[in-house]
Amino acid sequence: MQHGKFITLEGGEGTGKTTQIQNLHSYLTRLGIDCIVTREPGGTAEAEKIRNLLVQRDGGDWDPLSEALLLFAARREHLVKKIWPAMQKGKWVISDRFVDSSRVYQGLAQGLGETVIEGLYYMIAGEFEPDLTFIMDINPEEGLRRSGKQNQMSLDLNESTEDRYERLGLGFHEKVRDGFLHIAKTHPKRCVIIDADQTPDAIFDQMSDVLQIKFGLKKAVKSGAV
Ligand SMILES: Nc1ncnc2c1ncn2[C@@H]1O[C@H](COP(=O)(O)OP(=O)(O)OP(=O)(O)O)[C@@H](O)[C@H]1O
Ligand SMILES: [Mg+2]
Repeated sequence: MQHGKFITLEGGEGTGKTTQIQNLHSYLTRLGIDCIVTREPGGTAEAEKIRNLLVQRDGGDWDPLSEALLLFAARREHLVKKIWPAMQKGKWVISDRFVDSSRVYQGLAQGLGETVIEGLYYMIAGEFEPDLTFIMDINPEEGLRRSGKQNQMSLDLNESTEDRYERLGLGFHEKVRDGFLHIAKTHPKRCVIIDADQTPDAIFDQMSDVLQIKFGLKKAVKSGAV
């Protein structure tokens, strides 16, 4: 059996990653490809526990290296217990964020540097990399407006409190955007930048063009359609 593919969606807050992952999943499923959707940090029971420490508003005030170690512990769980076993069974795995987010948030924006991040990544994953990464790109002001979490102080139980990163301010999110564009430039075979300042249908149309070229898949006529 052939190994499944591993596709990641990366980008700052509110760039449409979660929205487009749903489109991608239904598109691949309609083509008869067995695929699963997952996310980081998280994706397994243990890794989701670590997620709560890091993304919740009251998750904690972590030293950047401690934070990176927690993220890589979660990623190791995710790889060993979910991503690799699924791929070995021939399933395609689509992940909402992966190691590029650590490269950008911890390595660049929080200043840990490339050597630390690449060392940790090699320790948990060796040479493994995604087959394809979509870098969703938008002006961070628009992204934060879309994600709608930055200025909310409400503790309404219905509202997401997974906003620890969103609350870090525009300067941080501009660094994040530049960081993802840098990753795309330094990993040109794997990464494709998608202009996220378009309608969801137009964005998915562009993504399905990439899938067609990269994996020889049939083109979607419009969002989610085959
Ligand atoms: N192309 C688009 N145009 C306008 N609004 C959009 C578009 N794509 C998504 N949205 C809306 O923007 C918000 C953020 O989208 P989404 O949750 O998909 O982004 P995300 O990158 O997953 O965000 P986060 O980093 O917060 O998880 C949602 O309310 C979504 O409905
Ligand atoms: Mg999301």
